Amino acid sequence: MNFGDVKAATKARIVILISGSGSNMAAIADALKEQKVDAEIVAVISNKEEVAGLQKAQDRDLHTEVLNHKNFASRQAYDMALIELINRFQADLIVLAGFMRVLSPAFVQYFPDRILNIHPSLLPKYQGLHTHQRVLDENDKEHGVTVHFVNENLDDGPNVIQALIDIEDDDTVASLERKIRAQEHIIYPIAVKWFVEGRLKYKGSRALIDGQELPKSGLRI
Ligand code: GRF
Repeated sequence: MNFGDVKAATKARIVILISGSGSNMAAIADALKEQKVDAEIVAVISNKEEVAGLQKAQDRDLHTEVLNHKNFASRQAYDMALIELINRFQADLIVLAGFMRVLSPAFVQYFPDRILNIHPSLLPKYQGLHTHQRVLDENDKEHGVTVHFVNENLDDGPNVIQALIDIEDDDTVASLERKIRAQEHIIYPIAVKWFVEGRLKYKGSRALIDGQELPKSGLRI
């Protein structure tokens, strides 16, 4: 029996992890529905209670769970509980959508080739926090946002898609955040769609689309 074929015939199961407003989660859910993509968001999991993203998920009839990190003594204990919870939903793809926690190597190794993240910079530039302030401090002329596969290092796995924006003289952290957020809502659904259609893979240290290595920057739009 060819198990590859069996898998391809099954609807892809997506778990989305959030910590806050959940606008990327909502954009992904809406795009998958609108484009009739053959995939199901089987759970939206938040590490914080009562965040707006949970309401947005419920408004879309998505199943929600809260796994509060404050109830765990260590990162390791939390990540083990998170693995267990995700396994209950048999996820094919784990989407980090504003999930504001560093994941332990053990978590990433458990799901080695199926975690996507979005980061508001042109990775590998500006890994970590406060990216908009940092591009302004450096007087950069361009900025952007990256969807990438997650590896064991923070904001470091292979890039999938980047959206670029020009920085205008009057841009501020707030205006950059607004512009970047709009781009996020375009590129994240594209990457998720590619993955659930079986076109996007994480192999070795690179992202592949239709079997071809993507450029190091990822596809740029
Ligand atoms: C986004 O800016 C994303 O780049 C970052 O966290 C934010 C999440 O926003 N990783 P939302 O919760 O999807 O609205």
